Amino acid sequence: MTRIYAIANQKGGVGKTTTAVNLGAYLAAAGQRVLIVDIDPQANATSSLGLGASQLPRSLYDVFSGDADLADVITLTSRMRLDIAPGAHALAALETEAVEAIRDPYRRSFLLRDALTPTLHRYDYIFIDSPPSLGLITVNAMAAAHGVLIPVQSEYLAMEGLGQLLGTVEQVRKALNPDLSIVGLLLTMYDARNKLSRQVEEELRAYFKDLVFTTVIPRNVRLGEAPSYGEPVSTYAPNSSGARAYQQLAEELLIRDGVLAPAPEGAAS
Ligand SMILES: Nc1ncnc2c1ncn2[C@@H]1O[C@H](COP(=O)(O)OP(=O)(O)OP(=O)(O)O)[C@@H](O)[C@H]1O
Ligand SMILES: [Mg+2]
Repeated sequence: MTRIYAIANQKGGVGKTTTAVNLGAYLAAAGQRVLIVDIDPQANATSSLGLGASQLPRSLYDVFSGDADLADVITLTSRMRLDIAPGAHALAALETEAVEAIRDPYRRSFLLRDALTPTLHRYDYIFIDSPPSLGLITVNAMAAAHGVLIPVQSEYLAMEGLGQLLGTVEQVRKALNPDLSIVGLLLTMYDARNKLSRQVEEELRAYFKDLVFTTVIPRNVRLGEAPSYGEPVSTYAPNSSGARAYQQLAEELLIRDGVLAPAPEGAAS
């Protein structure tokens, strides 16, 4: 079974792309066949994996405009089992173009789901890296997904906007995709020395309980550097705290999804 997860938060710069790329890379390293769908016009996931959006002949935009199938735009990265459906700046026009071209708002919401269907059998995990908005692109991501993974920056005002985001998930569930669930909330850019980080964690765990991943992603400079080398942190700096955290997150997700058995009680991790 393919698991499709939308990584979403309308707040900018909270670690959506970093999570898509590095969680994807570690799942691929663990033997899972992974596709990252870069549906963000910023195309940051594409460039983080060393692919220049402007040099690629085709992108997701060509899929949505009906000029290519998803299989034709999927590009292999230099990592084994990690593929990407590249994003492009042209995607920014999608919202207005789709509204003009497709009168039925229901059909407009399933562009991505329909595009993914023929390639599902090739992947165990598909991560959709969404832009920082709750517009048509993010709705398409949620309509195509089984779950939403929400990175939350461990900073001031982290919780602001979460209500609106969860409201959108609920609306998509009701109107478009009854099977949509919340995969989990992920604390990112965590600094254990910072009181604010600890407060955000406390609040989030008190409110969302088990929905919050046990794994916390620390603020780590290697995570910020890796994209400029076009590499996931798993190869750029495998011993960094950021790398270890994303590896642990991959394991936690595999256990949550029932792919890996939990380590026996008392076993060293
Ligand atoms: N844990 C971390 N430690 C240090 N830097 C990080 C961490 N996570 C992400 N960054 C850096 O912070 C910036 C924002 O991260 P990222 O691009 O993943 O966020 P985003 O939510 O995808 O942003 P956008 O909303 O613009 O798509 C990037 O420069 C990234 O390299
Ligand atoms: Mg991003």
